[in-house]
Amino acid sequence: MIILGIETSCDETGVCIIETKESEQGTILTVLGNQLYSQVAKHAEFGGVVPMMAKREHAKNLVPLLKKCLEEAEYNRPGSLTHHPSLTKEGEAGKRDESRLASSSLAKEECHSADKAVENILIREPELFTELLKLLETIEKPNIDAIAVTNGPGLEPALWMGVTFAKALAIAWNTPAIPTNHMEGHILVSSLQIMENKDSPSKAKERPCFTIIETKYPAIALLISGGHTQLVLIKDKLDYEIIGGTRDDAVGEAFDKVARMLGLPYPGGPQISKYADAWKENSNNKKQNFKFPRPMINSKDLDFSFSGLKTSVLYTLKEIPEITEDIKQEIAYEFKEAVMEVLATKTKSALIEYGAKSLIVGGGVIADKNIRLALEKTARETGVEFLLPEISASTDNALMIALAGLVRCKMLGDKCQMSDFKANGNLSL
Ligand code: KG4
Ligand code: ZN
Repeated sequence: MIILGIETSCDETGVCIIETKESEQGTILTVLGNQLYSQVAKHAEFGGVVPMMAKREHAKNLVPLLKKCLEEAEYNRPGSLTHHPSLTKEGEAGKRDESRLASSSLAKEECHSADKAVENILIREPELFTELLKLLETIEKPNIDAIAVTNGPGLEPALWMGVTFAKALAIAWNTPAIPTNHMEGHILVSSLQIMENKDSPSKAKERPCFTIIETKYPAIALLISGGHTQLVLIKDKLDYEIIGGTRDDAVGEAFDKVARMLGLPYPGGPQISKYADAWKENSNNKKQNFKFPRPMINSKDLDFSFSGLKTSVLYTLKEIPEITEDIKQEIAYEFKEAVMEVLATKTKSALIEYGAKSLIVGGGVIADKNIRLALEKTARETGVEFLLPEISASTDNALMIALAGLVRCKMLGDKCQMSDFKANGNLSL
């Protein structure tokens, strides 16, 4: 099976093509093409993601990324494409009248129905439509079985861009579209285990190959990203129940806000990690100057709260006349320790309470190596299997969306496809 994944929920534009084959070792997944464009530098000067700017950037980047991804997958190779009647009916690719590329005149012309439907979907994005049409005219339909796209949760204007783009492609290529939950992507990507080159069935050795680990259920997933902090009970494959969540800030959000208080650039997560690591390396024999609270660590439920911790950092900073690099490092370290302790404690309670057999962790914050280690320890102490994504697949990417689309396709067959789904910023698991 070959799936194209599209991710535009926040400030990363991602396009990925995966192929799976069944083998004696189980399902083997090869990444044929994987393109990611991070808008971080554009948003950094505003101190956070600007939703309408994210939308515009996605619109600008989707077609070039798709083109690169198709090239990487060698879909420009003879025999790798299937003939698509709707896009070649009036002649070979590339022979169309240039004037048809102008969206305003197109409305008046008698167009082929697939083109017309694509134009209707992208009616509010004439530039994206023009670029897409140009690309479609130079290639034929690639040999893919479905297009998976994030339809939530996330920033709605950004999500809409991916959704409309995927729908337009689905029509142009007469290929099913699968709406995909971003958080499900963060969960499922933890089940990919990289294969050594020697075992890899891929002819091009540089193509990453993975086996898909079978998760043991019930599982608990801890999701920690810029918009989410959730504990999820997974009773069986794709069967989710949210058993805990943050009452205020998400973990990633708290990282980003504390980084801003320390005068560190956006996104703050990696900065806090860096400063905390520096403190750990340099702090030998230095006395600890700060102690932050561990909010809700002893509460009976599985909920979290990080805004009090953030405020505590703020008040501490207000009392310090000169905030040196040393102080920033120590505050970053102690803040992260507080977060880690709460996450590990609550996760352990959830694992025990629900008799879980596996712990899955996902979301951008899991890119932090100490948080990875702390949660691995939690899994070890509780005697459960531990699944976590590669660091590079921890933050937003389209591989996880293609994978979520694949799993849905396999589980639900035709029921996973939809033609009139919407972007939903608050989509739940
Ligand atoms: O999953 P993600 O890429 O996007 C959302 O779905 O929100 O997560 C982004 C969050 C940001 O808050 C970012 O600061 C945080 O993940 N993050 C990190 C690290 N890398 C990204 N937090 C801690 N340590 C990191 N290395
Ligand atoms: Zn995410």
